[in-house]
Amino acid sequence: MSKNSLTITDNRTGKTYEIPIEHETINAMALRQIKVNDEDFGLMTYDPGFKNTASCKSTITDIDGDKGILRYRGYPIEQLAEKSTFLETAYLIINGELPNQKQLDDWTWNITNHTILHENVKKHIDGFRYDAHPMGILVSTVAALSTFYPNSKQIANPKSREKQIYRLIAKMPTLAAFAYRHSRGLPYILPDNELSYTGNFLNMMFKMTELRYKPTPVIEKAMDVLFILHADHEQNCGTTAMRTVGSSEADPYCATSAAAAGLYGPLHGGANEQVLRMLREIGSKDKVPEYVKRAKEGEFRLMGFGHRVYKNYDPRGKIIKQIADEVFEVTGKNEIIDIANELERIALQDDYFISRKLYPNVDFYSGIIYEAMNLPVTIFPVLFAIGRTPGWLAQWQELVTDKEQAISRPRQIYLGEDKRDYIPMELR
Ligand code: ACO
Repeated sequence: MSKNSLTITDNRTGKTYEIPIEHETINAMALRQIKVNDEDFGLMTYDPGFKNTASCKSTITDIDGDKGILRYRGYPIEQLAEKSTFLETAYLIINGELPNQKQLDDWTWNITNHTILHENVKKHIDGFRYDAHPMGILVSTVAALSTFYPNSKQIANPKSREKQIYRLIAKMPTLAAFAYRHSRGLPYILPDNELSYTGNFLNMMFKMTELRYKPTPVIEKAMDVLFILHADHEQNCGTTAMRTVGSSEADPYCATSAAAAGLYGPLHGGANEQVLRMLREIGSKDKVPEYVKRAKEGEFRLMGFGHRVYKNYDPRGKIIKQIADEVFEVTGKNEIIDIANELERIALQDDYFISRKLYPNVDFYSGIIYEAMNLPVTIFPVLFAIGRTPGWLAQWQELVTDKEQAISRPRQIYLGEDKRDYIPMELR
């Protein structure tokens, strides 16, 4: 029986070290003992972008990128998308188990009753220019909530954490809707507690002069499924920002703001916005081959293609494609889907994409549905952020209760100048 360890010989010294392997991983600190002499700092690893480094142990989300598998707390995403609701899935992600009826009712009540924002938050949003990107508004107003809830700094207190979790899940749609209405010059709409979480979000987005907003059931369900699909995705860029900022014991509003900022980038959650811009730029199916050629030549990346973890179909993309038809029956078909299908068809036959295992990711199709729902492209990453909030909070809670965690503080390889003396201005 082979030993569960790694034997390393340092050819500089001839010394041999035995490094234990646990969970198919070696502890980076175990390398520190590998030194040339006593003054030597010890060996480190170099891993820009954390391509092969696990930063935590987690029990929340399981992804098998080669098989295209995504599970929250063990439950396959396909089953949750079909049978669960966003709030139930949020409970599962944060608490580890599906709720019983009483737990779900309490959870729903608590979230529903934290949807209102302090009036001064409206003033904060009013201060933005009329054309401010809603994601910029969201990032800063989530951070601003920290000043309204100073008790949120008690991150070691489970009751306080629970309260901030209710508030954040509840207030994200309100902030998102207010950011949208601000950009349209429309009055803010107060939450309607009689509606579902997603129905109320649609109410705050779209209510005009009618006395009561009634969400269209197909749209409400589709949006709820989209939130479920985005609810967590283990240690992606935004979540890593959440954990990094959270590791300094900052309050969860500041950490969530950092996570949303990480999400905003076009290589991450901002990709859904860029996909729509790209498909519009392509304009028609016959222009797809030329566009793919330019991407292969390195002029730009195909937005919505490729993933750090998935080297197969993104399972979320498959589910979105299925619900797209239901949405189009109500909204009318978004013609841009024909260009998207053609792009997928051509790219997936091409050796460039096959050899690099570049498949469409969740952002490739989500924007097409959002657009059919009459949503502007700038709001797409904001929708992603609403869905991802339970995941960020679950990861944050896991971090702050994990005794093995420490403040995030990577090392560097310093390649700059050695010591040199200051040169007076007249001698430079
Ligand atoms: N179009 C064209 N080529 C691509 C693409 C793409 N979308 N994505 C990766 N590649 C190529 C790279 O040029 C590289 O080629 P090379 O080996 O010849 O240099 C190879 O595939 C590997 O790419 P990396 O950048 O090393 O992969 P990484 O894991 O670092 O990046 C990422 C993953 C950022 C998602 C990348 O695929 C990308 O930029 N995709 C487009 C943006 C996007 O859709 N982002 C959303 C991701 S899903 C999400 O965050 C929710």
